[in-house]
Amino acid sequence: MSLRKQNFRDAFRPGEFRAFRAAYEGINPDRPLETSGIGFGDTEPLFRDFLQTSDTGAAFVEEFLPHLGMFLQGPFPLPGNRVSRSAWDCRGKTGAYRACGLSTQSVTGKRTLDVGCNAGYDTFLMNAMGASESVGLEPHGFYFHAQFLNAVYERQGVSFRNIGWEGVDPEHLGQFDLVTCLGLIYHLTDPMALLFRLASVMKPGARLVMETHVLSERSTHAHFVEGAFWGDETYWWIFGDECLSGMLRSAGFRDVNVALKADCDSRNPRNPRVTVEGHPAGARAWFTAVRS
Ligand SMILES: C[S@@+](CC[C@H](N)C(=O)[O-])C[C@H]1O[C@@H](n2cnc3c(N)ncnc32)[C@H](O)[C@@H]1O
Repeated sequence: MSLRKQNFRDAFRPGEFRAFRAAYEGINPDRPLETSGIGFGDTEPLFRDFLQTSDTGAAFVEEFLPHLGMFLQGPFPLPGNRVSRSAWDCRGKTGAYRACGLSTQSVTGKRTLDVGCNAGYDTFLMNAMGASESVGLEPHGFYFHAQFLNAVYERQGVSFRNIGWEGVDPEHLGQFDLVTCLGLIYHLTDPMALLFRLASVMKPGARLVMETHVLSERSTHAHFVEGAFWGDETYWWIFGDECLSGMLRSAGFRDVNVALKADCDSRNPRNPRVTVEGHPAGARAWFTAVRS
């Protein structure tokens, strides 16, 4: 058994993980999985290539997959033509990165950091695009999804740490050429503190890719979420894109650009523009910026 698989076996506690799963699986439990009906051949081809070269350890997958429950990110291809049971269909990310100007050419040889990496979809994508080292940070139990996949894919240069953005520190992590931080900033009470932390581990000229919920209209304002958004109590801010651009510039970034923006479903059958809690449905946007 490889060291990664042995380390996973030593650290993973199925009982503790069951309690963790109950917390996130209970949010909007009736929402259909975005990946239902997706077969092995429909998964990200770069990830399927991982299975050609790795010692896939089918027995390891058989043993632990049933305990890992629903993944959020996915769909991930697994040995034996299996596919992870995943809430989110992340396959559009390759196109989003292309829109952000990232390519195999621009990522090859780069040291990358993925903050709030969940199961590591983006961390693995950066590895597949040629990064020399890809580090993913995930403070919650999703870290075990990432570690499980890392033990299955056995990709050189990929590692995960069970810490959050608060632990981003150049002393321990060093400096990166490319940082991805997707779906995190609107969950934080103090978003500027995150931006300063990210800047602290980026080389001058390094690239940031940040994805977030935003207001549909171009605005220098931000909407504060009191209570829940889409039934989720972990949302705090919906930024106008001009507002977040100004925040990025103030935290030490230049050349801030909104590479992609698309309106969101309000998930409110009675009103497509406003969520059931009364918040504007807004949009999702991908920002790029360069460390000054
Ligand atoms: C909406 S998900 C986005 C996941 C992934 N980056 C993506 O876009 O597909 C937010 C992620 O941030 C993680 N997270 C929560 N608090 C965090 C913190 N303090 N530092 C870093 N990540 C955090 C969550 O556990 C979750 O995996």
